[in-house]
Amino acid sequence: MKKELSFPEGFLWGAATSSYQVEGGIENCNWSKDFPAGKACDYWNRYEEYFDIARELGQNVHRLSLEWSRIEPVEGQFDPAAIQHYRLMLEALHARGIKTMVTLWHSTNPLWLTEKGGWTHMASPAYFERYAAYAVRELDELADFWITINEPGISTTMPYLLGMFPPRHKYDLWGWGSSLYNLAQAHKRAYRAIKRINPDKPAGMAENYSFVEPQYKDPLSLLLVRVWDFLRNRMLREYVRREQDFIGVNYYFHERLAWDLKYPFIVFRNRNKLVSDRGHEIFPEGLYRVVKDMKKYGLPVYITENGLADKEDKLRAAFIRDHLKWLHRAIREGVDVRGYLHWSLLDNFEWEMKYGPCYGLLAMDFEHLTYEVRPSAREYAKICKANKLILEN
Ligand code: FCB
Repeated sequence: MKKELSFPEGFLWGAATSSYQVEGGIENCNWSKDFPAGKACDYWNRYEEYFDIARELGQNVHRLSLEWSRIEPVEGQFDPAAIQHYRLMLEALHARGIKTMVTLWHSTNPLWLTEKGGWTHMASPAYFERYAAYAVRELDELADFWITINEPGISTTMPYLLGMFPPRHKYDLWGWGSSLYNLAQAHKRAYRAIKRINPDKPAGMAENYSFVEPQYKDPLSLLLVRVWDFLRNRMLREYVRREQDFIGVNYYFHERLAWDLKYPFIVFRNRNKLVSDRGHEIFPEGLYRVVKDMKKYGLPVYITENGLADKEDKLRAAFIRDHLKWLHRAIREGVDVRGYLHWSLLDNFEWEMKYGPCYGLLAMDFEHLTYEVRPSAREYAKICKANKLILEN
């Protein structure tokens, strides 16, 4: 039996990228020294080719980020040539009938800010506001949506608690707390700056939200889940709830928590045998759960990222279908979801994992800078073009 799940009229379908991960040639930021990305996908020069494919794949929105270290390479000095390049990129998307979702900060800081301590520096929110106001004044007419900050949670846990992102500190509670606080302030300041420039332009934040549940239903685990869920998913969201016109959801993780006598802390258990190349559990229902939880805010929701590492493309098509099936259920139950952006359009530089994990709808050959459209991208394109998901069986 065939079942059709139609999405609301005007639903946005697309894919997401970020400057450092795809552009190439960024040598002036906090990642460049320890984790040089080299040419990446050479997106800086070949964006038209990639945008052609996005259009061919039926996508009507594209998310990209502006590279702060290009726009403000020296403290207080903006580079008009960089802005002009982004202007051309955004125009190229519009020329193809693709809406633009523009992120102001996606994990990279200019070196001059890094030297001052990055987001732990007290003035970092003010620096960010100055940069954001400049970029928004220059590009607002070409940006259909502004995203201020991408994943403040991950961007502070990885560098200051887990030692994985630069500056690679471990258990640095002060670094974590101060950078999280400053990122939240930066978001608020940038949001207000956008509103001053154009009160009608939708602006929000994209955060990595996980679905958290207990492995066992003992009181200790239940308590643990509440605390973890608060810290992981709610604290910041509540803090910025008045400074956003939509909620950007990046969904990747299902976290099943349990106490374990062998460990001093908590354990994340994975009961699902279906995992990505990185061992991340695939749990589409979690997207529904996360999104349902957003209903109370009464704001539009965009899935600003959702994807998996799957080099052989064995799981991606089903992954997309299954997540969309659950997303559709959330829409049926009244959540105002208006778009889905897959991570990512193309394989790219995956932070501390470099060029290992393959998240792309396009498979990249980084040596020759060529690509192939993965079969799952064609499956996704059918959904985007029809604005509906057709389920057989
Ligand atoms: C998200 C990041 C994005 C990408 C994906 C795989 O957490 O926002 O840049 O690395 O994970």
